[in-house]
This record gives sequence, structure tokens and C-alpha cells, in this order.
Amino acid sequence: MLNLKQTHLWRTQCYIGGHWCEAATQHTIDVDNPATGEVLGQVPKLDEGEVEAAIDAAHSAFSTWSRVTASERSAILYRWYELMLENEDDLAQIMTAEQGKPLSESKGEIRYAASYLKWFAEEAVRVYGDIIPAADEQQKILVQKQAVGVCAFITPWNFPVAMLARKAAAAIAVGCTVVSKPASATPFSALAFAYLAQEAGVPGGVFNLVTGSASEIGKVFSDSRKVKKISFTGSTRVGQKLMSQSAEQLHKLSFELGGNAPCIVFDDANLEQAVDGIMAAKFRNGGQTCICINRLYVQRAVYSQVIQLLKQKITQLQVGGGDGDNVDVGPLINHDAVEKFQQHLRDALDKGAELVVGSDQTEGNFVQPTLLQNASQEMLFCHEESFAPLLGVVPFDTEEQALIWANDTPYGLASYFYSNNVQRVMRVMDGIEAGMVGANATALSNPAAPFGGVKHSGFGREGSKYGLEDYVNIKYILLGGQA
Ligand code: SIN
Repeated sequence: MLNLKQTHLWRTQCYIGGHWCEAATQHTIDVDNPATGEVLGQVPKLDEGEVEAAIDAAHSAFSTWSRVTASERSAILYRWYELMLENEDDLAQIMTAEQGKPLSESKGEIRYAASYLKWFAEEAVRVYGDIIPAADEQQKILVQKQAVGVCAFITPWNFPVAMLARKAAAAIAVGCTVVSKPASATPFSALAFAYLAQEAGVPGGVFNLVTGSASEIGKVFSDSRKVKKISFTGSTRVGQKLMSQSAEQLHKLSFELGGNAPCIVFDDANLEQAVDGIMAAKFRNGGQTCICINRLYVQRAVYSQVIQLLKQKITQLQVGGGDGDNVDVGPLINHDAVEKFQQHLRDALDKGAELVVGSDQTEGNFVQPTLLQNASQEMLFCHEESFAPLLGVVPFDTEEQALIWANDTPYGLASYFYSNNVQRVMRVMDGIEAGMVGANATALSNPAAPFGGVKHSGFGREGSKYGLEDYVNIKYILLGGQA
């Protein structure tokens, strides 16, 4: 049972054109608590016409919002940021109830999400153009950046507020308007975020939130001529579908898709530092993070030492409901996620890996943080995202071998490595195929940094000054001399 100080944050209706509304059909979707299986509540299952109405609302709001001064947009985003922090305890409770992550991580996510509102409140006033010298002295070449228009978002369940804030703050900062669809597993966090948008003074129609079937809503977004941009965080398979659906309307697209992050520990690394980094990047959100370490390569000379250090730390992890005390790892999101964990674990054991910590025994959506030694590159977890607290450790001999294995994937979101040899650091950071590289570090997430991938992990960048570029069109104006 939730115990919210600000009960208005619990919203069970969609937010369209500044109004809270049900589906006309009264159809709804149940939302479960992944720790207990209990139904937390229902949200509307909108039909296509209702989603189109949300796009219309964003389309009408665009003509005014895009003309509002940058400093006014900035002030509203800043107020939204403050409200997030003022309500962080309630927002974290809602998130833990529907997503499962430990309360301390939910609070961390609320602050992380809020930091994008602050970052883009600050960037809103710095969307500069250019004046370029022209060949003709009577002329000037002007370059102006203009908001692209209505942006449609589809956001994931693993970071239900941060991924939405990261997109919405950038779009709204430059004058775009938004229609967003949260994951059906975690809509209440997004609805609370929408409520705070309203409280912060975001005008009606600028930020709209719709719930319902992901495939139906994705199709409405893709088919719409009023939508100018689609930003999606989720699986590569769905990204490919959205891309082909959007071909007709030639939407501008930004996709943050699947990952398969490698981490390489060289024998010249600071091992304590490496193991701390690995623990943070592997077990955050129970391993359900696109930039989680998915496979670990450790050079043979330090292999047993790293396994021992990891064993000590992983044995201490507490598994339990996210609202419990001192819990490190909550439940996985659903039964499919548990099955994937079991499939990857069994595959590795069948192919010769040895269990150091953990088990294939599961209870509801809870699984044990699991460490495997003597894993090898043939194992499934080296090629597919486990999205679970499963860490397989592959020994390697040479730098060349480690780089070949690290790059042996269609994905290229995050990658990590540890070494104290400067020349090696330079070689590996250049050679690794990823949009983001942690060299002797794993905490990549930061509003000041450009988040995004290469290869099948997508394109476009979120956060940082580069994050604004995805929401503007460049207009070139040739200004002639007056007659
Ligand atoms: C993700 O899982 O894609 C988001 C992780 C982050 O922003 O830290």
C-alpha cells in the first residue's frame, strides 16, 4: 500500500491538452507490482482516435509554444525540476511499487531525471545560430535553429522517469511539443511526472501522455503527418519496426536500442577500483539497464583474484522487495525476464561455465545475483543482453583477443575497460565499437554527457549540448542586400 504525502501524484488517467481523461470505451490495462504480483491499479487503453487527439493537441500548442521566449521555457523547466525534488519520496515510492527497484535507486532515478530538466532549463537559452561569410558582399548566410514540431516518444519500463525526462526536457526546451507513451508496466511514474508538468506551468498541449497498446500507439505515431520526430528507447526489434513504419512520413528518428556491454579488465588495472565499478554497473536496477555490463573479460594473470573479489561482494547483495530495508536487488520486471535469466544461466552451465555464487532457483520474479567463472565467448550471454543480475566472466590472454571479443556483437551502446597503461587506454578507447566508453570508470549516466549508441544500439544522442540537436531543424537563410 502506498503512503503518499501528495496523493494527487497518483494519476490513473491520461493527460491530453491539459486535461485528465479516460478512454471513451472505458477499456483499461492492469499494472502489477513485480515484487508481489498484486494489481496496483489500471490506466486507460486509448484507441487510435484518442491518440490522434493527443497529437492534435500537441500540434495546436506548437504554434504558440515554439514562439514563447527561451527564458520563459527555461523558467518552467526549472520549476518542474524543483517540483521533482520536492516530491522525490512520493515519486520514488510510486516507481518502486510498479518497477521493483530498491527505493534508494528509485530516489536516485528521480534525481537523475530531474537533473535533465535542470540541464535543459539551462541549455534552453543557448540554442545559437550562425552567421557565415557569403561570397557576395551584399549577402549574408544566416543559420537558424528551429524546433522540429510535435515529438512522439515511446519510453521503457526500466527507467520510467529518467528516460522520459531526458527526451521531454530537451524537446520542450527548444520549443517542441510532446506526446509520450510510457511502458504499460510502469505508467504511474510517467503520469506523476505529467502531473508535475501541469503544476510547473507547462501549458496545456505542450506535454501529453497517452497509455494503451504499444504497437497500436507506435503505428499511430508513425503514420501521423503532424508528428515530426519519434524518439524511442527500447529493443532493437521494435526500433527496426518503427523505422520501417516511419519511412512513409520520413520522420526524424532517435533510437536508444539494445546493448550488450563488454567490460575488459587488463592485468595492469587497479583491481579494487575495477571490481567496485563492475558491481555498480552490473547490479544497478538488478541488471536491467541497457548500459549494464553484460559480459566480463578478465586477463588470465588476474583472473582468480578478480573472481575472489567479485565473489565477496556478490555474496553480500541482499535480494528483496524494493521497499524493504537494505535491499540491493529487487525483483525482475516479469516472468519473461526470469525465463531469460534461466535460459542464459543454463546455456552457460551446459557449455562448461562454473557457478561461483547464485543459483537457477527463482521465486516469483526474484532471482539470485549469480557469478559464473570459466565462461567462454560461445555462450549466449556473450551475444544477447541478459537484462538480469547474471555475471559471466571470460578469461583472455591478449589485448587483441579481448578487443575482438568485445566488438563481436551487432550492438554498440556502452563498453568499459580497466587499465593503468596509458598507451593501452588510448588504443582500446579508440578501438572499441560503442557510443559510450568507460575507461577506468562505469558511471556513464550524466546530463552533461551525450548518451547514445552505434551499430544496432541506435542513433541520436540524449543529454548534453548534443541532445538539443535532435530536436531542431537547421534553416539556412540567404539574406540579400536591400535594393
Ligand atoms: C538505459 O537503460 O538505457 C538507461 C541507463 C541510464 O541512463 O543510465
